[in-house]
Amino acid sequence: MGRFHYLLGLLLLFVCSFLWIASSLAKQPPSIVLTHESCVCNEDKVTAASGAVIIPSVRPEPPIEDMKRISNPKIPSHLPIANSHDHHTQSAIPFKLWQKAGSQRINDARQKDIHSWLDVNPHLRHEILTDDSADEYVRQHFAEYPDILNHYLSLPVPILKADLLRQLILYIDGGIWSDLDVTCHRPISTWIPEQYKNKTNIVVGLEFDGFQFASWTIMTKPKTSHIVAVIKYVVDKLKATAAQHHVTTAELNMTMINDVVELTGPQAMTVAILQNLQKEMGIPVGRANITNIKEPTLFQDVLVLPNAAFASRQGGYPEDRGPYLVEHHYAGSWKNANGGETKS
Ligand SMILES: *[C@@H]1O[C@H](CO)[C@@H](O)[C@H](O)[C@H]1NC(C)=O
Ligand SMILES: *[C@@H]1O[C@H](CO)[C@@H](O)[C@H](O)[C@H]1NC(C)=O
Ligand SMILES: *[C@@H]1O[C@H](CO)[C@@H](O)[C@H](O)[C@H]1NC(C)=O
Repeated sequence: MGRFHYLLGLLLLFVCSFLWIASSLAKQPPSIVLTHESCVCNEDKVTAASGAVIIPSVRPEPPIEDMKRISNPKIPSHLPIANSHDHHTQSAIPFKLWQKAGSQRINDARQKDIHSWLDVNPHLRHEILTDDSADEYVRQHFAEYPDILNHYLSLPVPILKADLLRQLILYIDGGIWSDLDVTCHRPISTWIPEQYKNKTNIVVGLEFDGFQFASWTIMTKPKTSHIVAVIKYVVDKLKATAAQHHVTTAELNMTMINDVVELTGPQAMTVAILQNLQKEMGIPVGRANITNIKEPTLFQDVLVLPNAAFASRQGGYPEDRGPYLVEHHYAGSWKNANGGETKS
C-alpha cells in the first residue's frame, strides 16, 4: 500500500513537472516573435507556429493598376496643372514671346511686325519656331503623352497643327503667343490693370464680333487648368471629326473640316475656357457674360479684355473700350484648299 502511494506521488510529480515545463514553453514564443519582427520573410511562419496575434509591420502595397496610372499618364486630362487659383504663391507670367514661321520666307511686312514687339518691349525674350523645330519641341515635351504627341505629329493640315501648337507651348512654357501678322502697340507690362496683376493666370482678348476670344494673341502662365481644357477639347474634336469620316487624324483634309475656327481655332478655345470656368466656379459662365464688355473683366483667374485690346482694327477702333494693345493684319495664309502653306 505504502509503496503504491509512493509510486502515485512520483507519477503526480512527473505529470505536474511536465505540465509546468509545457506551459512555460508555451509562454516563450512571443519573445521569439519579437526578435523576428523585422524579418518579413519568416514572420508568417513564426506567427502561425506560436498562435500569437501579430499585426503585420508591412502595409499592403497599393494595387499595381493605380501606381501605373500615376507614373504613366496617357490621356490629356492627366496633364499636371501647376497654377491653382491660389494666386499669391504663383509665379509671374513669363516675359517671352513665342511665334512660328511658315515654310516660306518671312517677308518685310512680317519683319516689321516682329520688330514692333521688340521695340515696344526691349526686355522681351523671343523665339520663332519653324515647322521642324516646332515638331522637335513637341516631341521633347510631350514624350510621356503619346495621345497628344502622335495626334499633333500626324496632322497633315498646317492650320490645325498651328492651332494646337500654340496651346501646347502655352501649356509647357506660358508667356505670350502671337501670330506673325500682329503689330504690338503697347508694352506688355501695361496689359493687366494693376488691381488684377496678382489674380490673373491667363489673358485673352475678344475678337471684333465681341463674344469670342482671339487666338492670334494670348498670354498665360504655364500649366494652367484652362489651357489643359483647351488641349483636351481640341484633341477630342480632332478624333471625333476623323472618326466621323472613317479616317485617322493623319488622313484629315480640308474637305472633311466644316469649320477650322470651331474645330481647333478661336471658337474651340473660347468654348473650352468658358466650360472650364463654369466647372471651376460652379456658376453659369457663357457667351452672355463676355459679350461686348467695355473694360477688362476678371473671371476667377481669366482676364478678358474688350475687343479694342486685340481687335481694334476689325472692331472699327471703338473709343469707349480702353487702349489698343495689338493689331492683327489677317495676313494668315491658311484659307486655301490645303489649310496653309505647303513646302515648295
Ligand atoms: C501683389 O503681390 C506682391 C507680392 O506678394 C505684393 O508685394 C503686392 O503688393 C501685390 N499687389 C497687389 C496690387 O495686390
Ligand atoms: C480629302 O479626302 C477625300 C477622301 O479621300 C477626297 O475625296 C478629297 O478630294 C480630299 N480633299 C482634299 C482637299 O485633298
Ligand atoms: C454669367 O451670367 C449669368 C446670367 O446673367 C449669371 O447668373 C452668372 O453669375 C454670370 N457669371 C459670372 C461668372 O459672372
